[in-house]
Amino acid sequence: MTLLIKNGQIVTAQQQYAADILIEGETIAMIGENLIAPEGIETIDAAGHYVFPGFIDPHVHVHLPFMGTFAKDTHATASQAALIGGTTTFIEMLAPAGSDELRDGWNTWTGMAKNSSACDYTFHIGVTRWDGETEQTLRELVADGMTSFKVFLAYKGAFGIEDSALFNTLTLAKELGVVVTAHCENAELVSQLQAKLLAEGKTGSGWHEPSRPEQVEADGTAHFATFLEMTGAEGYVVHLSNAKALKAALDARKRGVNIHIESVIPHFLLDKTFAERPGVEGAKYVMSPPLRDKLNQAALWQALKDGEIDTVATDHCPFDVAQKHMGDNNFTLIPNGIPAIEDRVNLLYTYGVSRGGLSLNRFVDAASTRAAQIFGLYPKKGAIEVGSDADLVIYDPQYRGTISAATSHVNNDYSGFEGFEIDGRPRVVTVRGQVAVRDGQFVGEPGRGQLLRRSPRPAPRQKVPG
Ligand code: URP
Ligand code: ZN
Ligand code: ZN
Ligand code: ZN
Repeated sequence: MTLLIKNGQIVTAQQQYAADILIEGETIAMIGENLIAPEGIETIDAAGHYVFPGFIDPHVHVHLPFMGTFAKDTHATASQAALIGGTTTFIEMLAPAGSDELRDGWNTWTGMAKNSSACDYTFHIGVTRWDGETEQTLRELVADGMTSFKVFLAYKGAFGIEDSALFNTLTLAKELGVVVTAHCENAELVSQLQAKLLAEGKTGSGWHEPSRPEQVEADGTAHFATFLEMTGAEGYVVHLSNAKALKAALDARKRGVNIHIESVIPHFLLDKTFAERPGVEGAKYVMSPPLRDKLNQAALWQALKDGEIDTVATDHCPFDVAQKHMGDNNFTLIPNGIPAIEDRVNLLYTYGVSRGGLSLNRFVDAASTRAAQIFGLYPKKGAIEVGSDADLVIYDPQYRGTISAATSHVNNDYSGFEGFEIDGRPRVVTVRGQVAVRDGQFVGEPGRGQLLRRSPRPAPRQKVPG
């Protein structure tokens, strides 16, 4: 397997320059001007195209038992949709229900992904409770290269974690050099507000946002940050959606708390009026944290440009229209989630870079490199360097198209971004040296994706309290 990519504009998180890339086997062998292809190997002319490192989506749900049903994708469909959209690695939330054993969850998730995912993948290990067996399993999984955890401060009675378990999880994470990702909403306030709204007869999807308002997320974020501060652990807030929560995270960072921030593409482009649409049309847009007042979008874009928001993920979570109907008479029964794994990169490029003044370097950083750095995949992933995995996206900025469920590869029957224009798309995508996508079609090998084992990060420097 050898491939030469000629005449492209290489764009990384740090640089932009014209050069050719020679791939040998699964990795990048040479980067330079006027490289000559060995006899008989495929040469791709990337003139007029960008060459980006493969994009990384650090927050997806593929197999997900949730709210009495299951998210719709398989690892085959999610990974092929991801690749068509330029994402060559995803990190899935391995989230067994609170009553299930973690080891069983591990066997289930890895069993489903193996020989099914076409792109590389790894897992954030969900921690829902604390006991001797959980601790032992976490230690074993970290030793096996799963060096990030996931906790939910929301979803009382399901995935939600108690404060005592949160403290123990963070203490272990600090000891082992593991990053803890967290869904930050105050669970008690959500359940109280849900009950109050329902008692008032407020049952439609438009009440989802008022049941978990911005303050509830800001409180969850501040709470998580305080626990990070007390334990010295390294944290990562997932799907931060609004300016109040952003302030809570940035205030913590100013105090020296080691906290990273992720926002997800729906929160940059969709607002709460979508979820206020009547009937199931609104239910399609129910996710948590909810779509917010549009005013928050400017704050998110600015924080992204400034590098305060580290990463842009999807929180990809497809439930179809029939599943969304489960909440017709009660918004708390609408399965939460919006699919986006195929569209994240094109949307971020279009509304960030092409139309919004986001720099190309920050775009690559937020959609690829920084996730690789935070989660121990760099520079194998997230980089274009000799020796890095040859995960590359040859991107056509001349392409013009429109997003539609009818042409999507996600296993779902609606798109939250129906009708959104895009100003570019991947022309060719490689995964470890093999072409997986050409012109919007998957041409790779199903099931070739590898489970990525990662090393723990060295314990970061901590500000000593007091
Ligand atoms: O609404 C969402 N986000 N669904 C998926 C579960 C989660 O909270 O990430
Ligand atoms: Zn979440
Ligand atoms: Zn960071
Ligand atoms: Zn999620």
